[in-house]
Amino acid sequence: MNILLTFHLLALGIWIGVVAAEFVIEFDGMKDDDSLIKASKLHYLTDIWIEIPALLTVLITGLLMIDEHHLEGPFLYKIVFSLLAIMFNLVCVYAVFLRRKYALISNITKMAASDLPMKLGGAGFIPSFVCAIGMGLYFVFQ
Ligand code: HEM
Repeated sequence: MNILLTFHLLALGIWIGVVAAEFVIEFDGMKDDDSLIKASKLHYLTDIWIEIPALLTVLITGLLMIDEHHLEGPFLYKIVFSLLAIMFNLVCVYAVFLRRKYALISNITKMAASDLPMKLGGAGFIPSFVCAIGMGLYFVFQ
């Protein structure tokens, strides 16, 4: 396995792990307003220190490995679903940044402005991420 593929898969594992941890943070944030403010700050920190570097590593290593034969057949679907997952994840990141801005001043009403982009991002991210992982596993085990 070459170095780029090693980093691609390592970053992918980190990305999956941090997404799972963020679900836990969000569930905990549903208890009350104080928990939501704390969750907003924590989710922001996991985004900037773990999630964004991991997804950028997946994207950059993936782009660097692309060859003509990857742009046809089923592998092309893997790339399309992966790019969709990255795009929708960035919508979630935007929502997290917006919410954290108001969490810093404890403005619960304005924090709700992030609900729509968060829901849109999540609704697009989950299926495209699952499809990208499914396609990735298919190529590992075929
Ligand atoms: C959710 C995101 C992603 C997942 C789950 C994923 C998964 C994988 C997996 C499991 C492999 C190893 C396949 C094998 O051993 O045959 C792989 C390789 C690869 N991925 Fe990704 N990937 C993702 C994102 C991307 C992106 C965004 C790109 C490009 C823009 C990309 C391009 C590639 C390339 C070119 C390879 C090398 C295939 C080869 O060795 O011939 N991946 N990916």
